[in-house]
Parts: sequence; C-alpha cells; structure tokens
Amino acid sequence: MRKLSVCGKGGSGKSTITALLALGLRERGYEVLVVDSDESNPGLYRMLGFPRRPEPLIDLVGGKKKVFGTFRSSEPPRNVLTQEEIRTSDIPEPYVEERDGIRMVCVGKILQSLEGCACPMGVLSREFLKRLSLREGEVAVVDMEAGIEHFGRGVETSLEGVLVVVEPSLDSLELAAKMKSLASEVGMEDAWVVLNKVPSEEVGSKLRKELKERGVEVIGSVGYDPEVFLSSLEGKPLRAGRAMDDLQEVLDILTGGDDGRE
Ligand SMILES: Nc1ncnc2c1ncn2[C@@H]1O[C@H](COP(=O)(O)OP(=O)(O)OP(=O)(O)O)[C@@H](O)[C@H]1O
Ligand SMILES: [Mg+2]
Repeated sequence: MRKLSVCGKGGSGKSTITALLALGLRERGYEVLVVDSDESNPGLYRMLGFPRRPEPLIDLVGGKKKVFGTFRSSEPPRNVLTQEEIRTSDIPEPYVEERDGIRMVCVGKILQSLEGCACPMGVLSREFLKRLSLREGEVAVVDMEAGIEHFGRGVETSLEGVLVVVEPSLDSLELAAKMKSLASEVGMEDAWVVLNKVPSEEVGSKLRKELKERGVEVIGSVGYDPEVFLSSLEGKPLRAGRAMDDLQEVLDILTGGDDGRE
C-alpha cells in the first residue's frame, strides 16, 4: 500500500485516524506524506504537531476558477502541479510543512461561504494524487472529505486502497457498505474498514456482525480514547493512549508487516 485514502461519515474520526496512521507509519520507518483533501477540516495540522497549516495547493494554480483550465489546456502554465510526476521534494514552501519524516500538504482552502462548489477541489486532488510519485519507503495518506462525493469526482482512481472509518452508528456502517461497493466500482484493489470510538467489546462485536451481514470485513478496532478526545479539544498535537496500540493490527495489514527501511 503506497497511496491510501481515509474516508467515512462526518465526525467518524477520519482526521484522527489519518494522523494516527501517519505517526504509526513513521514509527515503522516510512516517510509519510499527509494530504488534507477536506476543505472543511481545520485541525489536522495541529494533530500532527505542525505550527501552521500549509498554504493550499489550489493557490499554486491561481485559485478554484483556474483549476479546470490548468489541467485541460494543451500548454498549461508551468508549475509543479502540472508536472507529469510530482515528487514530495518538488513541492515548495509554504505549500508543504515538514517535521521528523512527516510532510503535509492541503489541497484547498478552509471553506468559506459563497465560494462555489467543491468540484475543482476534487479535480485538483485527483490530478495531484495521480501525478504524485513516491520514493521507496514513502507512503501517502489522504484525509478525505466526509461522505461519498469524492468517489464521483474520481479522486480514488490513482489510490491503491481506501480505509473506511466506522463509528458506532447505523448511518456510519451503512455508509461503509456503500463505500465498499463504490470502491470496487472504481476498480480499487482494497477497501478496508476500521471501527473507531468503540466503547466496549460488546459494541465492537455487534458492529462487526452488522458489517459482515452487509458484506464488509473489519480489519481493526480503535477504542474510545479520552487522550485523543482531550488533545483534539485542546487543539494540541495528538496524544494517543490505547488508540495507537489498537491501530497496530491495522498498520500490520496495511504495510504487509514490512517497514519503510527495507
Ligand atoms: N478513538 C477516539 N477516541 C476518542 N475520541 C475520538 C476518537 N477518534 C476521534 N475522536 C474524536 O471525535 C471527534 C471527530 O474526530 P475527527 O475530527 O477525527 O473526525 P472526522 O471524521 O475527521 O470529522 P470531519 O468529518 O468533521 O472531518 C474529535 O473530537 C476527535 O477527537
Ligand atoms: Mg476531518
């Protein structure tokens, strides 16, 4: 798995799981690029311990209105985003933040009213992820916007896997079943499900059973972790107690047991 998206229902824990994955993958020796593809998502950079949110990549193409033209034109304006292959080291500051082997980019701006639809964001996410050329030992984790619209915009086409985060709610597990079938429709090799904010083993097995009945297999379960909740409430770097331990089995599966140093 080199390029993975994290998706799910609003508030299910996509950003939290993205940040935990980034930290866990780094711990295992990988270089990690976190891609914030959700324009209504201000807190991810804080969870990762960055002092500021990187400037949005959309500004590199001159804003939302220019996105379509940039990628359609036969002679696009020369810039890093229109290169056939984009290496993480090609992305200039202040469009990337970097610390201890974890880099982060944001596709769009924080959503403001009257800004128009999110389609250009989808196009930019799709084009960026398609052109993104990762080195050996480097992985990308993409924090997706809530819901399923990104599938329609083709953002997934160049990703190898999607991790669906399911919190204990009927809406969340129904959405996971929907996402699993959308992922296979767009030809993705893998769609995994991780449970999150699970308060007890009993609830965990109930969720697994419900998902199994919908044809969805679960690869891990992250318990409700007060440390995670508090650090996010305080706007501090993510502190994880049991959540990081719980995520190890997911990391084992995603990495096939390898580490980035090999
Ligand atoms: N395992 C966990 N234990 C405790 N709290 C959690 C856990 N996972 C997420 N949370 C909390 O749930 C809330 C939503 O999490 P998060 O922001 O990661 O969700 P999201 O899916 O990215 O939301 P959005 O759809 O708004 O982007 C936050 O307050 C976060 O701290
Ligand atoms: Mg989020």
